Amino acid sequence: MRIVRDNFERRITYLRVSLTERCNLNCFYCRPGEQKTPTVDGLPLESLMRVIRAGARVGIRKIRLTGGEPLVRPDVIPVVAALNEIPQIDDIALTTNGSLLAPRAQGLRAAGLKRVNISLDTLRPDRFRSITRNGELSAVMNGLEAALAQDLHPVKLNMVVMRGINDDEIDDFVRLTEDRPLHIRFIELMPIGVSSHWASEYYVPADEIRRNIDQRYGPLQTVRPAGGDGPARCWKIPGFIGSIGFIAPLSGYFCPSCNRLRLTAAGTLRPCLYKEDEIDLVEPLARGVNDDELAGLVVQAILRKPQGHPENGILPVCDRLMSQIGG
Ligand code: GTP
Ligand code: 5AD
Repeated sequence: MRIVRDNFERRITYLRVSLTERCNLNCFYCRPGEQKTPTVDGLPLESLMRVIRAGARVGIRKIRLTGGEPLVRPDVIPVVAALNEIPQIDDIALTTNGSLLAPRAQGLRAAGLKRVNISLDTLRPDRFRSITRNGELSAVMNGLEAALAQDLHPVKLNMVVMRGINDDEIDDFVRLTEDRPLHIRFIELMPIGVSSHWASEYYVPADEIRRNIDQRYGPLQTVRPAGGDGPARCWKIPGFIGSIGFIAPLSGYFCPSCNRLRLTAAGTLRPCLYKEDEIDLVEPLARGVNDDELAGLVVQAILRKPQGHPENGILPVCDRLMSQIGG
């Protein structure tokens, strides 16, 4: 089976599929707030599967469902079940805020979901309410327990670290890995969408977080990222069960190992988080494009991938919201 390489010899095997731009939370750094929040739903199930099958023909092996919040989409379980029918797809994962996960975890697992990444920036209920503009932390914690109970392993927690907002909780997150199979990823806040012009005010470099953890716990052990080949670099504290990782889009340059393409909720293929040069699939799908042509469009998107974002730690301004691109 063919795996297409981009113009920089990278094998593109990972498709992030945004199921909707909607989200039931409104994190202040991700979305503009209730009134102005976009509400585009992703491609319908049948079209989604056509695109993903076309991707599978040219090398896509891993699908991550994103949003917005993918679990607000009513047919998310049928989507997972349909993905599970595509023989080349060997990893089906979900990135979620976790708050709608508890009642769906069993159904998702039964449909073929392998694992979840849960976005969680604080362990304090009041702070959670303020970051998410009124979310309930307990719902996320129930989702997390359900993910563990349903063996949606490895369960990863994504914490976007923001100075003065939640950087005093880093150690609380580290300690979650002591006796639970949890994989924490500390993420550098990127300037994107609503945070385009002020992300630097809250920016905490991954190295600084790493140094503080080293000082407290001693040298960390390198580990391979638990399941998946996203952008994280991972370590563990000797004797702890889980791991900690860093996703450093500003201070660490991971573009040379990029293996990703994105399908946005608006039905376009996006070559890079930071590249607007998208290929529309809505019109071709509406006029009944055939499978060969569809696979050709996926290849075109792969060939549009840039070599990387600038290497100097300064990302270009990107006005599209993270929830529009799919994270
Ligand atoms: P795994 O499959 O578990 O490795 O997941 P992942 O890390 O690929 O996915 P997740 O949705 O959990 O993303 C974690 C963070 O990495 C998010 O903040 C993403 O926006 C960021 N990220 C993923 N891919 C890219 C990329 O190509 N460029 C940049 N700048 N950030 C990315
Ligand atoms: N910078 C870094 N990560 C972000 N996310 C959302 N917005 C940003 C940003 N500006 C994270 C979410 C989620 C993941 C898909 O992207 O918290 O974990």
